[in-house]
Amino acid sequence: MRIVLGVAGGIAAYKSCTLLRRFTESGHDVTVVPTAAALQFVGAATWSALSGKPVHTEVWDDVHQVPHVRIGQQAELVVVAPATADLLAKAAHGLADDLLTNTLLTARCPVVLAPAMHTEMWTNAATQTNVATLRERGVDVIDPASGRLTGADTGPGRLPEPEDIFEHCRSYLDAAERADGPLAGKHVVITAGGTREPLDPVRFLGNRSSGKQGFALAASAAKRGARVTLISTSSLIAPGGVDLVPVETARQMEEAVRRQDADVIVMAAAVADFRPASVANAKIKKGFAAGDPDAPTVELVRNPDILAGLVERRGSATTPYLVGFAAETGDAEGDVLHHARAKLARKKCDLLVANEVGEGLTFGQDTSTVHLLRADSEAVTIGPADKSVIADAIWDAVQQDLP
Ligand code: C5P
Repeated sequence: MRIVLGVAGGIAAYKSCTLLRRFTESGHDVTVVPTAAALQFVGAATWSALSGKPVHTEVWDDVHQVPHVRIGQQAELVVVAPATADLLAKAAHGLADDLLTNTLLTARCPVVLAPAMHTEMWTNAATQTNVATLRERGVDVIDPASGRLTGADTGPGRLPEPEDIFEHCRSYLDAAERADGPLAGKHVVITAGGTREPLDPVRFLGNRSSGKQGFALAASAAKRGARVTLISTSSLIAPGGVDLVPVETARQMEEAVRRQDADVIVMAAAVADFRPASVANAKIKKGFAAGDPDAPTVELVRNPDILAGLVERRGSATTPYLVGFAAETGDAEGDVLHHARAKLARKKCDLLVANEVGEGLTFGQDTSTVHLLRADSEAVTIGPADKSVIADAIWDAVQQDLP
């Protein structure tokens, strides 16, 4: 992203060196525009070395390139840190007497101002009116932090820590990344976690799935620009920008999946194949001796196979693209890949993600190893790797197949 980092003349200018580093290390293209006063605190050589670009403060440098208009027009995000009382006043009144104030007038992108000044200047009615005016116009003025100021005094007016300013800017950076992402315009539905099939108000039949892989898939898809619906039994916190639909049982999950109009459905959930035939209204009591023929037994009935239902409903259409998961162990009949191939042939989804499960493998872990299988090509093995890396590899594979 093309970022303009404006720096006004306050002692907190030194903190902006760290902010600049965070932007460049995250792969952004940063043009630093300090004011003349800012250069009293941190010199042009520092800004230039850290940004890898020439640094100007006045509109008279390289006039043939019309920098007073071009820099603002080309910016995708303008961040001014620190923004002094003087800079806020100029911005609020549309003054343009140097390169930074010209840039603020010509920018059509989001503008974030991070004020830093003494408490008296910040609370002064003139500054507060200027801040209110700027906010009304849609400028994002961050509240200054409270704490130690330049001298011994303390109060509101401190520049927030560079990391906090970076985090604040993240929503703009992420939004830009998403809009251009390879899954922009696609609605992706992901199921995650193990279903819980109730026996009575207290107990359920469940499984060891944590939902971590499904959540990693949701985070990865959101970053790639997809609209993401995450249908989950897990108590993990949903990644930002993802619509979470909480469910418990296989039948609730089926219902929630059915309501979606999706381009891609990833069935990462571990769906119980069976549920108790009946659910007791009250807690089942334990007052039975061993071998008592009246002791409760659990009768199971089949749950719907959600993925099979999706394949059937889709018929010969190619949408939604369907991804199934298979938790497999090798046995006397064959290894994990052998069983996974057979499952792909049975399930008829577009992509099958097979992972090896067992003692200390996959379930609840942050890492796993998966084999990606399509009907007409060799399996691709990913891992052992973090589930976020596996998620990225799965989306890379899906993207290859999407129209
Ligand atoms: O047949 P198996 O349960 O191993 O298949 C696993 C795949 O099928 C997973 O993608 C899982 O989410 C899905 N599944 C389902 N409904 C079930 C059981 C499994 O959609 N009742």
